[in-house]
Amino acid sequence: MREERDTKPRTAALLGGGVIGGGWAARLLLAGVDVRLYDPASDAEQGVIATLDRARRAWRRLTMAPLPPEGSLTVTDSISEAVSDAELVQESAPEREALKRELLSQASHAALSTAIIASSTSGLLPSRLSTDMDGPERFLVAHPFNPVYFLPLVELVGGPQTATSTIEHAASIYRSLGMRPLVVRREIDGFIADRLLEALWREALWLVNDDVATVEEVDDAITYGAGLRWAAMGIFLTYRLGGGEGGMRHFLEQFGPALALPWTHLTDVPTLDQALLEKLVTQSDAQADGRSADELMRVRDDCLVAILQGLRGQSFGAGEALARYERALIGDSAAHLRDATDDAGGTLRLHQVIVPTDWIDYNGHLTESRYLDVLAESTDAFLRLIGIDGDYIADGHSYYTVETHIRHIAEASAGEHLYTETRLLAHDQKRLHLFHEMRRQGDETLLATGEHMLLHVDRTAAATAPAEPAVLASLSAIADTQRELPWPEAAGRVGRRP
Ligand SMILES: NC(=O)c1ccc[n+]([C@@H]2O[C@H](COP(=O)([O-])OP(=O)(O)OC[C@H]3O[C@@H](n4cnc5c(N)ncnc54)[C@H](O)[C@@H]3O)[C@@H](O)[C@H]2O)c1
Repeated sequence: MREERDTKPRTAALLGGGVIGGGWAARLLLAGVDVRLYDPASDAEQGVIATLDRARRAWRRLTMAPLPPEGSLTVTDSISEAVSDAELVQESAPEREALKRELLSQASHAALSTAIIASSTSGLLPSRLSTDMDGPERFLVAHPFNPVYFLPLVELVGGPQTATSTIEHAASIYRSLGMRPLVVRREIDGFIADRLLEALWREALWLVNDDVATVEEVDDAITYGAGLRWAAMGIFLTYRLGGGEGGMRHFLEQFGPALALPWTHLTDVPTLDQALLEKLVTQSDAQADGRSADELMRVRDDCLVAILQGLRGQSFGAGEALARYERALIGDSAAHLRDATDDAGGTLRLHQVIVPTDWIDYNGHLTESRYLDVLAESTDAFLRLIGIDGDYIADGHSYYTVETHIRHIAEASAGEHLYTETRLLAHDQKRLHLFHEMRRQGDETLLATGEHMLLHVDRTAAATAPAEPAVLASLSAIADTQRELPWPEAAGRVGRRP
């Protein structure tokens, strides 16, 4: 089934660049959106850059899909400069109603009349936040989750003055950034997610306050049990399964009476006095065991990568949002490649990469398997160029690589810019014969060549099949533009009998 394309903004303004604003900056920049940041703190830019570095690392581990060229980050001295040409204004200032109201009011007077203006507030009501705004119909709450560059959920909450079209437009924008907008049906303090989290948080504080458990034991009670299930299934689907074959009805008959038992403090709040505060902080420090925030954030991100990749394999929960975003990225990249190669005179420079430090082996150079990664990415880029995009694959067709020959010629070091040039050596209805030269930018040294044979397949029938006419036409057009190029000296090794 073909998917609707969402419209990505070209420019977004961020008011506040702390934990959440920095996360928005990273998500937007990695999606190719230009960001204008306004934050009165002198170290805000530095914090955003550190978050962007973490996000780049995490996304590189998460997906093979081609991220677009990064957007640019501009730090501004005023609210009006930040918002003047932004299609999306996202406020992420401290959680104080008066401050947010003032900020949103100023932003609304300087922003485009067509801009979507959103607040990241964790629970303040949109009808109150928009009181002093010009054009409150374009305002809504868009409540994200930390780390914003990675977690897809964003709760969208409109007030009585918010236009329906604003919610729809905002949902499309956030989807275009790989997110899963959840529209909250009416405004309510704490929205949906934070009401649930607040209930859990209160119980957790009581358990520590009453010395029933330490902070680490409370966390273990989540991460070794229910927390694992929650990544895939929420509380309702989980409890349905708790009812076995009898489902939700049986579950409610069995555990309904427990609702009357004193299993929860719920509406009571423990007094956060100095003694409780010290206890929480001391136990939390012991739990962190000397690991820095940066170290723990990397662990968190790597675990999220594993979970998201697992869920993507099942096309379930947040894995579905990731798979959808990857399909959109592949489609966008195909369009971008076609634009970039229109006047290329036969040379196809389809892939480039900066060698990351974790690609370096014990010899201090690019490790062997990463040569294949770069060449395989180049093949993928070529496939996108000829129209093998998310829709084509969803329709049940693709190319599979059946043979590869790599020559490792020279070394590469961390931080070097590499690129590949691709030749279409031959093709017919089912076969594709590609040759890549991988070079270092600057001295243009040839580092490796890769020669690959691919077969076009009907994925449903699990058999080879002729490619679609449009793909074959694209291949013929490329073959025509490359006809005059000299035959690569090392080509012709794939497919030869030993
Ligand atoms: N931290 C979370 O887990 C989380 C999750 C979802 C939503 N939120 C919401 O996001 C918002 C920001 O929270 P945070 O955790 O990023 O806080 P933070 O303290 O990390 O960042 C706030 C930033 O706002 C800046 N700031 C202060 N006054 C400003 C002004 N007048 N204009 C522009 N910027 C200003 C500060 O310098 C700081 O960089 C809050 O509304 C919060 O409820 C937080």
